[in-house]
Amino acid sequence: MKFKAVYFWLLVVLNLTLTHAFICPNNGQLIPTEDTCVYVRNDPTSYMDVIRRCDNSSGGPAKIQNAFENSFIFTQFSALIDSPYMYIGVERKNATTWTYADGSPLTYQNWGQGEPDNSNPYAACAVMTVDGKWRANNCTGPAPYACTLNGDNYQCPDGWVYNRTATNQGFCYYVQKFLYQDQYNWVLYNFAEAESICQMMGAHLASIHSPAEDAFLQMLLYSNVQNMNVTSPCDLQFAWIGLTGTGILGNGTWIDGTPFDYTEVTVPFIDVVDWAVANDPGCFAGWMPAYESNRNARLVCKMSAY
Ligand SMILES: *[C@@H]1O[C@H](CO)[C@@H](O)[C@H](O)[C@H]1NC(C)=O
Ligand SMILES: *[C@@H]1O[C@H](CO)[C@@H](O)[C@H](O)[C@H]1NC(C)=O
Ligand SMILES: *[C@@H]1O[C@H](CO)[C@@H](O)[C@H](O)[C@H]1NC(C)=O
Ligand SMILES: *[C@@H]1O[C@H](CO)[C@@H](O)[C@H](O)[C@H]1NC(C)=O
Ligand SMILES: *[C@@H]1O[C@H](CO)[C@@H](O)[C@H](O)[C@H]1NC(C)=O
Ligand SMILES: *[C@@H]1O[C@H](CO)[C@@H](O)[C@H](O)[C@H]1NC(C)=O
Repeated sequence: MKFKAVYFWLLVVLNLTLTHAFICPNNGQLIPTEDTCVYVRNDPTSYMDVIRRCDNSSGGPAKIQNAFENSFIFTQFSALIDSPYMYIGVERKNATTWTYADGSPLTYQNWGQGEPDNSNPYAACAVMTVDGKWRANNCTGPAPYACTLNGDNYQCPDGWVYNRTATNQGFCYYVQKFLYQDQYNWVLYNFAEAESICQMMGAHLASIHSPAEDAFLQMLLYSNVQNMNVTSPCDLQFAWIGLTGTGILGNGTWIDGTPFDYTEVTVPFIDVVDWAVANDPGCFAGWMPAYESNRNARLVCKMSAY
């Protein structure tokens, strides 16, 4: 009996280990001891297109968070690519501040001497050069590129994102992307339409239950619309979440039926309305009541992970 119990738990643990050590899809290289896939691609293109192509592998332009990752990616670059430089996922947001492509602050930097040279306003993309160092470059010159993909996302359907530290509760998130200005992608919806789209995917508009989950969602929703070539770009920054109420605890409901146990709203809104979230440093960040209740926004859905 005792032996059987030990054997059972061994199998359970072994099974967990096996499911966690996944294989990178599309010939990605798994960074040893990390759950991150790297894709170094030798098909030169502009940085905007790099974002789209990385997204096609469910990833983003390479987020390099420590020296080990930099050296792993540099090794791939040296081995596979004959080019003086390649794009990585580091962008300039204003005159002096550089961030990762997802808008989060850099936790690691490996600039070459005199870099980043911020004197050229068009040098807003970082490239890795042949010594593994980074340099400020324009974003238009066609160059090879590196993408990274967080392996945890494979607990979610394609195109959905998982975050172990922020949610620790096993949820996947889907953000409608603005990668292409076309009739399928760059479209805004009202609250009811947005919820019905989430429901078609077996989900609901996202609910938020902790400061960490809030921070994670705002990171996902990060956008840089003030740099988009459209009129009134700030109108494009909002995404519906599943909250209806005044924004104050005890007076609102999440459309997925979970308890209303977290809010970042400190002053109640006068009416019961639907809520959206934004995160654009050039426009507005935070939860926003849809007092023009026909305010149209994109959507962020949430469902349980596998
Ligand atoms: C993304 O993948 C689809 C299907 O494989 C392909 O048709 C499309 O051209 C790809 N887009 C980019 C930007 O690579
Ligand atoms: C650039 O953005 C950062 C972070 O948002 C901010 O702290 C800094 O003051 C900004 N700098 C300029 C010159 O606008
Ligand atoms: C972009 O940068 C590359 C490499 O630094 C350079 O060769 C190219 O002329 C630049 N393009 C523009 C439009 O400045
Ligand atoms: C998860 O979310 C936290 C914020 O709560 C963020 O700091 C972290 O970078 C996220 N991780 C990934 C892999 O997105
Ligand atoms: C912005 O868009 C307009 C209309 O689509 C176009 O004529 C113009 O060249 C664009 N400007 C830039 C800098 O891309
Ligand atoms: C919620 O707020 C609305 C609008 O201010 C108010 O009419 C209603 O009585 C409130 N309900 C509760 C349970 O506080």
